[in-house]
Amino acid sequence: MSVYSRLSGFRDVPPAARRAQLAEHTGRAPDELSALDPSEGLTVEQADHMIENVVGVLGVPLGVATNFTINGDDVLVPMATEEPSVVAAASNAARIARVAGGFHTSSSRPVMQAQIQVVDVEDPEGARLRLLDARAELLRMADEQDPQLVELGGGARELSVRVVEARPGRYVVLHLMVDVRDAMGANAVNSMAEAVATRVGEIARGRVLLRILTNKADTRLARANAVFDAATLGGADVVRDIVHAGALAEADPYRAATHNKGILNGITAVVLATGNDTRAVESGAHSHAVGADGRYTALSRFETDADGNLTGTLELPMPVGLVGGATKVHPAAQSAVRLLGVATAQQLAEVITAVGLAQNLAALRALATEGIQRGHMSLHARNVAVSAGATATELPQVVSRLVADRAVRADHAERVLAELRAGRP
Ligand code: MEV
Repeated sequence: MSVYSRLSGFRDVPPAARRAQLAEHTGRAPDELSALDPSEGLTVEQADHMIENVVGVLGVPLGVATNFTINGDDVLVPMATEEPSVVAAASNAARIARVAGGFHTSSSRPVMQAQIQVVDVEDPEGARLRLLDARAELLRMADEQDPQLVELGGGARELSVRVVEARPGRYVVLHLMVDVRDAMGANAVNSMAEAVATRVGEIARGRVLLRILTNKADTRLARANAVFDAATLGGADVVRDIVHAGALAEADPYRAATHNKGILNGITAVVLATGNDTRAVESGAHSHAVGADGRYTALSRFETDADGNLTGTLELPMPVGLVGGATKVHPAAQSAVRLLGVATAQQLAEVITAVGLAQNLAALRALATEGIQRGHMSLHARNVAVSAGATATELPQVVSRLVADRAVRADHAERVLAELRAGRP
């Protein structure tokens, strides 16, 4: 197995040295990653072209998760998050997964769906069949709207029609399925939906209302699985208790919400780092967490295999792209994509899903053993110490005092700092 994602001494050097090490390690020219330095990242002028009424840009820490091996290849994963422990936990879970070969992933084709709602239809069931009969015409009209996508091998692929019972009556809802290739695809499917809408209304003999993608992107799924070696996890009892932890999330929506939040800690961090739409991915994830019985449940499953090791699986919609949107214009997102080295949106989706599974495993392992707070504490203590005014040289001493005293609080940090400066450690 390659050791590309194992960066020795990475944690122990300052951020600029880490960037230099990354550039050297990945064989990238240093300027390909330079936008990760805020002074060379997104400018206010660039931001002004992205959204409205711009007055500035917001910095979010971007770290690199190490140890990941996915489908036999090592990958370094950029993660943007404000939450301490997330990057360390993902790297740690990836280190455990490597023992048994790392993560294995797969994905469906990048097919997004738009919905076209038709109201005031006299005969919804009849309209449904008339629309299905017009399949070829409607798919052709949709493709004519985006010849570039068709040239790239994408385009409208299929349609389905549902009759939805709602309070005011029955709606005819046409779903247009579009292979969006390496785009996230919202613009492509929304434009196609608008292009065919009038004709859909004529055929259904009703009035067209909404024409918009669905974020329940269940035709664009990504999957990850891994075996986590029992001994490396901490033994058979730890495996057993992680299975119990996963089972509670399967059975109980209160636990499922937190369990899935842990998965999204990893997923959202990579989605954000690569300039993708975090809300689209999160709404897709939560909608996918509702089973056929209407119950909200866990997105992942944990089982014990025949050798007593832990297996983890995760499947969810992953509507992310490499072309268009912030991914294309945000310089740091471009650097993050280069660092990942992915060539297609499907590859990106699969890496993100593997990170989600790693994050989930790390949280469950902590919860099933020492609890989450101990690991969090020293990182949290760093934030508290910095907020209290500790300098880089004072930081290690203040942090270890806060943790040792089990009092990671601003008032205590100020006291410790004052004592340190007065020469009373
Ligand atoms: C905290 O951000 C995430 C966890 O709560 C996830 C979980 O409980 O599985 C630790």
